[in-house]
Amino acid sequence: MIPVIVSGAGGQLGKAFVDRLSFKEGFSVFSFDRGQLDITDETKIHNILSTLPQTKYWINCAAYTKVDDAETHPEEARRINAVAPGMIAEACAKANVHLVDFSSDYVYHNNLRRPLQETDPTEPKGVYAQTKLAGEHAIQASGCRHTILRTSWIYGPGGKNFVYTMLRLGKTKDSLRIVGDQLGAPTFTYDIVWAVKNLILKAETDHSDHIQGIFNFSNQGEVRWDQFARKIFELSAIVCAVESTTTEAYGAPAPRPAYSVMECSKISGLLNEPIPHWEDALKRFMDMI
Ligand SMILES: NC(=O)c1ccc[n+]([C@@H]2O[C@H](COP(=O)([O-])OP(=O)(O)OC[C@H]3O[C@@H](n4cnc5c(N)ncnc54)[C@H](OP(=O)(O)O)[C@@H]3O)[C@@H](O)[C@H]2O)c1
Repeated sequence: MIPVIVSGAGGQLGKAFVDRLSFKEGFSVFSFDRGQLDITDETKIHNILSTLPQTKYWINCAAYTKVDDAETHPEEARRINAVAPGMIAEACAKANVHLVDFSSDYVYHNNLRRPLQETDPTEPKGVYAQTKLAGEHAIQASGCRHTILRTSWIYGPGGKNFVYTMLRLGKTKDSLRIVGDQLGAPTFTYDIVWAVKNLILKAETDHSDHIQGIFNFSNQGEVRWDQFARKIFELSAIVCAVESTTTEAYGAPAPRPAYSVMECSKISGLLNEPIPHWEDALKRFMDMI
């Protein structure tokens, strides 16, 4: 059995880990939602690790994810996205636990208009992106064994995400204005779990440190938000016109990168199957809900 802690278990990614890391595949999962563990509580982090001394991996899905609200709540975002992952990492370093954490395509924001690689410069523009990068740095500085997945445009069952928003609005509106000048890749939470599971099983079999470091992970292909909305409506047989608008006209408080397609060859070299395309992932999700 591989004993794993999942924090942030009430979020959409946390729920996917709880659903999909199964006992049958050799995982025993100890999950904590926000009410059970506030990740800014250092004493609680240490208490949990001392009551679960057999833990091998800590998968942290907790984060301050309200990208626009972060602009007006920078301290809270920093505490949750930067300081807390550093505290978990330090506790993991002491307890010899491997930390898996999640970062964002927004840390790049570097105006390179070609698929972004892990070694490319990071130039995060908004508070959310800056705190996520600070979280990466805190984990790296702790000296703990770690895997950080930079991922993008997440959706999955039970989440607050773009797909559910489109399904809800598309049923009641004749048309919607959706941003059409940001290119990226949506990512299904279950595919993130698949990737992390594969990495852990690989590390357990190889006894190697190949899974150590920062990896990009998104579903494959690229799409704009307006095209993504049209595909959601097509698959769900909802009749709703999608008019394209610009990031500037939409006027969200936090800056978003115009181009954030990530090159995922570093991680795909470690996985035992190709990473699914975003359209395939979306179809699987829509079939489930
Ligand atoms: N969503 C995306 O499109 C996206 C894209 C790239 C990267 N990521 C990263 O992927 C990871 C998972 O995101 P997600 O989409 O699953 O986000 P989510 O659905 O918003 O889940 C985050 C969870 O963290 C919890 N949380 C917030 N502060 C906490 C604290 N102090 N202690 C414990 N739990 C706390 C939240 O609880 P409350 O709901 O009660 O606040 C929520 O349950 C995050 O690291 C995120 O930055 C997300």
